[in-house]
Amino acid sequence: MKSTGGSDAAKRAAGESAAEAVEDGMVVGLGTGSTAAHAIRAIGRMVDSGLDVRGVPTSFQSRELAKEAAIPLVGLDEVDGVDLAIDGADQFSGPHLVKGGGAAHAREKIVDAAADRLLVVADPSKAAKRLDHPVPVEVLPDARTTVSADVRALGGDPQLRAAECKDGPVVTDNGNLVLDASFGPISEPANLADDLSAIPGAVEHGLFVGLADEIHVGSEDGVEVTEF
Ligand code: 5RP
Repeated sequence: MKSTGGSDAAKRAAGESAAEAVEDGMVVGLGTGSTAAHAIRAIGRMVDSGLDVRGVPTSFQSRELAKEAAIPLVGLDEVDGVDLAIDGADQFSGPHLVKGGGAAHAREKIVDAAADRLLVVADPSKAAKRLDHPVPVEVLPDARTTVSADVRALGGDPQLRAAECKDGPVVTDNGNLVLDASFGPISEPANLADDLSAIPGAVEHGLFVGLADEIHVGSEDGVEVTEF
């Protein structure tokens, strides 16, 4: 699993805090990343103690982790709805998020948006007054250059995400590529989100506008929960 800023103790506190919201009978969206992983492990321990839940994974990583934790899994197309999703973020400002550091934002957005409630888990390094983190854009491989041009026309600087243990680019769970698009401070996240969504060949972007219902920020001293 990739490692991001913030201590593991802070991530664990956030993940375990959000897992406390999981109740018997729920369908739960299982987010991706090192912070959401703590929530998945905590839910696994609850399942071990008799909790009856079904998890909807958002990535290869979260599926594998949930299988290890013995959480019963279902696909999004097999359930009537998702009661609760727990997911990490690369940056948050109020209920707005930038996600996709693990290149899983397309499936994460589908599951998180389908959930009645999205609980975001993060350490304090993810908080921002205004979003300015590069926005990951998942693109069809053939559309890499045209999407890059469209991102530049919106004022962004797109960089093809390179793999770390493989020559060449990151390939997503869906077989696509990722452009990390820097826009500097994002004053109107909803407008940028709409503009990125309108680009042909852009499968999904990592701006999650107004999606968070709660943010659990962990630290060595405890957890601060903000509700929206
Ligand atoms: C994956 C994500 C992750 O939730 C995000 O990158 C945060 O990860 P971490 O908790 O490891 O910092 O969006 O696509």
